[in-house]
Amino acid sequence: MHNVVDLKVLYFGTPVVLIGTRNLNGTANLAPMSSAWWLGDQCMLGMNTASQTTQNLVRERACVLNLPSSALAAAVDRLALLSGSPVMTPHKIEKGYRYEPDKFAAAGLTQLPADLVAAPRVAECPIQLECEVLASEPFGIGTDAVAHTVRVLRAHVADELIIPGTAHVDPVGWDPLIMKFCEFFGDGTQVHPSRLATAWQIPSPATSH
Ligand SMILES: Cc1cc2nc3c(=O)[nH]c(=O)nc-3n(C[C@H](O)[C@H](O)[C@H](O)COP(=O)(O)O)c2cc1C
Repeated sequence: MHNVVDLKVLYFGTPVVLIGTRNLNGTANLAPMSSAWWLGDQCMLGMNTASQTTQNLVRERACVLNLPSSALAAAVDRLALLSGSPVMTPHKIEKGYRYEPDKFAAAGLTQLPADLVAAPRVAECPIQLECEVLASEPFGIGTDAVAHTVRVLRAHVADELIIPGTAHVDPVGWDPLIMKFCEFFGDGTQVHPSRLATAWQIPSPATSH
């Protein structure tokens, strides 16, 4: 039997991406996001219009998609309620976000330069994808989101994740951090409490029954 439910959140489970971009003053920004999917050598990123990341993507036309493993959930969570933009929307103020100009220090992550684009890599992320921005268009109707289409120009992959003698990632060894209904999962299990889930007042199974 199924129930008809007016679902409050439709985030069924996608990998977390730490998008590295360059700010207008040349410093680095880093933002967690999970509205991302890949087709061929291109990727669609759904980002809020007001985010510093969207401003940087539209201006710089470049980014690095840093893919954290589930072991990095705590570092990702430290970025959850931060923005690289000093101008905060009323929605973000209400949710408890604050301006943070140094996201790498706040997260405890290490910045590395990219080879081909002016955007930061995250040393701790096992997969880092240098990208150019092909298009940035409004997403949907009545949303505050932008669909950024990017093309992967260069991939950096940790040695242990490459199937020896191939140009393929080992799908068994790769344990992506997954955001499912605002909670963090890895290897199919919940790996860390989520500030986003708290801010969004997402009920957890333990408290909702
Ligand atoms: C796990 C996780 C996933 C997120 N996914 C998205 C997303 O897909 N799109 C989006 O616009 N914001 C997403 N956010 C919220 C942004 O990280 C947040 O708006 C942040 O302030 C953006 O930073 P910026 O303003 O420096 O770009 C996510 C946050 C977390 C913690």
